[in-house]
Amino acid sequence: MRGATEEGLLRRRFAEAGQEHVFDAEAVLDAAGRARLHAQLATIDLGLVATFRELLRSPVPDPFAGARFEPADVFPLRRSPAQEAEARQARQRGRELLRAGRVGCVVVAGGQASRLGFDAPKGCFPVTPLSRASLFELFARKLQAARARHGVALSWYVMTSEATDGPTREAFARADWFGLDREDVCFFRQAMVPALDAHGRILMAAPDAPFLAPNGHGGLLAALESSGALAHARARGIELFSYFQVDNPLARPADELFLGLHALHGARMSSKVVQKRDAAEKVGVLGRVDGRLSCIEYSDLPERLREARDARGALLFGAGNIALHVIDRAFVEDLTRGGLHLAWHVASKRIPVVDAQGARREVDGFKFEAFVFDALAEAGDSVVLEVERAEEFSPVKNRDGEDSPASARRDQCRLHAGWAARAGCALPPAGADGIHPVEVDPRFAEDADEFAARMPCAPRAVAGGHLYAP
Ligand code: UD1
Repeated sequence: MRGATEEGLLRRRFAEAGQEHVFDAEAVLDAAGRARLHAQLATIDLGLVATFRELLRSPVPDPFAGARFEPADVFPLRRSPAQEAEARQARQRGRELLRAGRVGCVVVAGGQASRLGFDAPKGCFPVTPLSRASLFELFARKLQAARARHGVALSWYVMTSEATDGPTREAFARADWFGLDREDVCFFRQAMVPALDAHGRILMAAPDAPFLAPNGHGGLLAALESSGALAHARARGIELFSYFQVDNPLARPADELFLGLHALHGARMSSKVVQKRDAAEKVGVLGRVDGRLSCIEYSDLPERLREARDARGALLFGAGNIALHVIDRAFVEDLTRGGLHLAWHVASKRIPVVDAQGARREVDGFKFEAFVFDALAEAGDSVVLEVERAEEFSPVKNRDGEDSPASARRDQCRLHAGWAARAGCALPPAGADGIHPVEVDPRFAEDADEFAARMPCAPRAVAGGHLYAP
């Protein structure tokens, strides 16, 4: 009886929202299929669907039309003596924060790796050139290195989504948490939201399932709160989250300079940037829009500003976003208290569906995502730190070409061979691409100075290259 009432309520809610078609293919389902359908429909926030419908009906007028664009203030790579002194002080502050256990790490790993064409969570992708460690394992090694250096384990918050959650947890369990303590790794899931067709109707992936997709990396903030991860961090005395994306093997989760600068400036959310290669490189840039710091997507920046240069000939809007942030725990608490309203971004996509006859096809639809960097506008105080691309950014996004597994392996080898050469080590022969196959395990050294301090030390011969590992 109760089941029937609940079912009736569900039908009424969807009918009132103009979404009754979600039950259209119920006739082909058995009892278990109907139960699956109803369970999934019950998770959909129809208020949010109404917001999405409204966005499709009357798209927000161009938020950048008539806006005043200014470059961000960047803490640069080429520093004045005063900035160099500040950097020294910041490193010291960063070390203190790490030693006191005030820093937690957050990786966003809910994306579906579809561009890469890899059938498992992207974090499981074997990314290191010689040891073939996965992205998750590589980050775990970096956290082990931080634990050894600062004498404190960093809590690691791993955001997954419905598709990546199970396989991610299994990968960690299979590898015995990659040498970390189990209680220092905390998995939590981001929310899923429906995709709509052009008429604002919820798309069905199959007769028993609405099409649901992760709500974007901006979903992190609400998910930290609703999952209890934020409360967990507070209980552990964590004040700062070091945020990175799962796709960048050169990310440095425990960067003393970045953490320290953020803290010294009393910032609430900070970002790392690299100098854009040229005006045409299609990355978002950090800049001020009507006085507020934002990540301005390539297509939103007027062309004359994209090309504009300063007196020294450098791009005025050249601060390319590499999606590495420090975020204050208290800032996340403020943002999530009373509900969080990051803007929704609409993307038109081909959506795979299975119809009532079991035929697979793709239809036009719209997905909705929130972006974590939209929180920058709310942060007020913020540090933008310029870093060397070769040292900190080489993401794995595409199957081949730039930002692919091959370019990430190349960039890791190039960086590590550079450290070895500077320390006077003999290099293995270069491959056809001119790159010497050298890999340095982060537990061995995390930068050129640390590497040099470890010498003399013989590498292991692995797969025709040199592996420096503890
Ligand atoms: C993103 C940035 C871009 C930046 C680039 C750097 C956006 C819109 N753009 O691009 O400005 O220059 O990274 O690499 O973000 N993720 C989730 N859940 C989601 C969606 C994504 O956890 O719902 C995670 C992914 O697992 C990945 C990261 O977020 O770790 C980036 O997502 P992706 O969609 O690949 O961003 P890009 O378009 O490459």
